Order: sequence, then C-alpha cells, then structure tokens
Amino acid sequence: MTIIRVPKSWEIPEQQVTSESAYFNRRRFLKTLIGASLGASILPIVGCEPSSESQQALAATLDTTSLKPIKTNPAFSEVDRPITDQQLAGQYNNFYEFGGDKSIWSNAQALPTEDWKVEVTGLVKNPRTYDLDELKKKFPLEERVYRFRCVEAWSMVLPWIGFPMKSLVADVEPTAQAKFVQFTSYYNPKITQGPGLHFGPLPWPYTEGLRLEEMANELAFFAVGIYGNTLPKQHGAPIRAVLPWKYGFKGAKSIVKIEFMEAQPATFWNTLDSHEYGFEANVNPNKPHPRWSQATEKFISKGPNLSWEKIKTLPYNGYGEYVGSLYV
Ligand code: MTE
Repeated sequence: MTIIRVPKSWEIPEQQVTSESAYFNRRRFLKTLIGASLGASILPIVGCEPSSESQQALAATLDTTSLKPIKTNPAFSEVDRPITDQQLAGQYNNFYEFGGDKSIWSNAQALPTEDWKVEVTGLVKNPRTYDLDELKKKFPLEERVYRFRCVEAWSMVLPWIGFPMKSLVADVEPTAQAKFVQFTSYYNPKITQGPGLHFGPLPWPYTEGLRLEEMANELAFFAVGIYGNTLPKQHGAPIRAVLPWKYGFKGAKSIVKIEFMEAQPATFWNTLDSHEYGFEANVNPNKPHPRWSQATEKFISKGPNLSWEKIKTLPYNGYGEYVGSLYV
C-alpha cells in the first residue's frame, strides 16, 4: 500500500532560515509541497480504516442546521452519476488554511462562523455589507445537484443549496467599468493552521476570480448548504462559490469579500504558479495539467471507505451547453 504523507518540513522554525535566497527556496519548496499534495492527494486516505471514534467525530461536524424543506431546481435535479456519499465528501477536502493533508475536516472546526458578514465592494452602484441571514432571506434558496471536478483529477457529485450568483450581481449593479470579480476567503493566522502559517508567506488570504459574464452565467452559484443542511465548516461554511464547469480550486470557500474590478484580479493558485493553475481553469480533458493528464478522473461516490471509478472527463465538466458560448 502506498501512503504519501505530507512532510512536516514547514514546521522548521522561522529563525533557521533567514537569507533572501533561502526565503525564496522555501517558498518554492512549499509550492512544490502543495502542488505535490494537490496532484497526489487521492492517495493519503486510501486504505486507512477510519476508527469508529473518528467516524463519530466526523458525523458530528456534518450534523449542521437543516435547511429543509428546500426546492430542487428541476434543471439541476440529477446528473448521469450518483450523488457522492456525504461522509466521504465531508472528509475528503481541500482547505489549505487548515492544512495540507486530509485531516482538514477536523482542523477546520476552528473556523469561527458566527455573525458572518460578506462585504460587496468595488465597481458597483450599490456597495454594501450583507450579513449571512440577510443573504439567505433575500435570495431564495434552491438545491442543485452538480458534478464537481478537482484539478487533482478526482471528482464527486454534490447536492448544493444556495442561490445563483447572478441574483447578487443584479442587487449590487456593477458599473460599466466592472469586468472582473474577486472573491476573498476568511483568513486569520491566529486561527487558520495551514502550512503558510509556519512556513512563510503564501499569497493569503485565498482569493479567486471570474470574468463578470462568467459570474452572471446561470450555473455560477453561491452555496450556503449541502446535503439538506447548512455548509459544514470543512466545505467552506458559511458561504462559498460553486462553479461546476471549472476546476474545484476556483470555488473559494468561506467568502468574506466580493470585489468588482476592471482588471483581472490576482488569485491564490495563479499567483503561486500561473503555468499550472490558469485563471480561466475550465475543465478540459484535452489540456493536460503540466504534471498529469486531465483526460480521465477518479469518480468518488460510495462510502464508507474511499473507492473510485475511473471515468472520462467531459469538456466543461459536461456543462458546455450552458457555458460554451462564453469561450468562443
Ligand atoms: N477555498 C479556500 N479558501 N481554501 C482552499 O484551500 N481549496 C479549493 C476550493 N476552495 C480551497 C478553497 C480546492 S483546491 C478545491 S478542490 C475545493 O475547494 C474543495 O472543496 P471541498 O473540500 O468542499 O470538496
């Protein structure tokens, strides 16, 4: 059995590495570490039999507030594959603020989600700060079953609850100058425990971005729930972006700020390595990642132990009819 463990090298005390060249080597090393973990992270929990204690702890993190009854949008009520087991989806996460391995689900419980506010700012006629309850009341919630394709070449099918991004766009009215949007995730180095905290500066906070037309597309979604309940912390509570035709890293978690701008915004992965993580990042089986093929994916559906089925990756993750016209 092969288990790839993320090394603990980032825990080297700051004072041991002081020169500028060492600093840049360190940064490069961390980038490689994260990239390696992104590329290989299907492996770490393979074969690990979860103890009943940890299964109970996991189940408790998924037992969030029910949002039922909720209406399912008939256009997105199912896809050609089964919905992924809730417990698997809830322990197989990427959330680098809380670490680089697959124990993120547990570490992420430190995220403080009370009195959450989302600031909408920049090139809009109606800049404002919403609190989360206001957002949930103002924009009718619906359920959508979407395919989810990570750049790491694994995939799931997830039943999100939320509202279309275009509803928020209409509410704040971007000005004619606005061409892009940037999403910023929660970041507090006293609470988040990811490698950057110990290892030196990464481009925190996590940011992602879209072109305005992409944000206004029917598919673009803000999720506040999943599997009938409010979002568990490991999935990016209390509000995150879901963009099913793009690789999963575009979907910023735990959003605190949405800024409309004229120029393409900086984003976390693109800043770390623009060659490996493009800004557009549409799912494309014909465009390999520099370090692995994107032609197929490991579809994760059944629990309780991790297993997958190798399937072909679809252009735009199967959503070409909705978004293909954005890229001609
Ligand atoms: N958002 C933040 N703030 N931090 C992250 O590390 N990881 C991204 C994305 N959003 C990430 C993030 C990546 S690489 C993926 S694949 C998805 O979240 C994973 O979402 P999930 O854990 O809910 O499956």
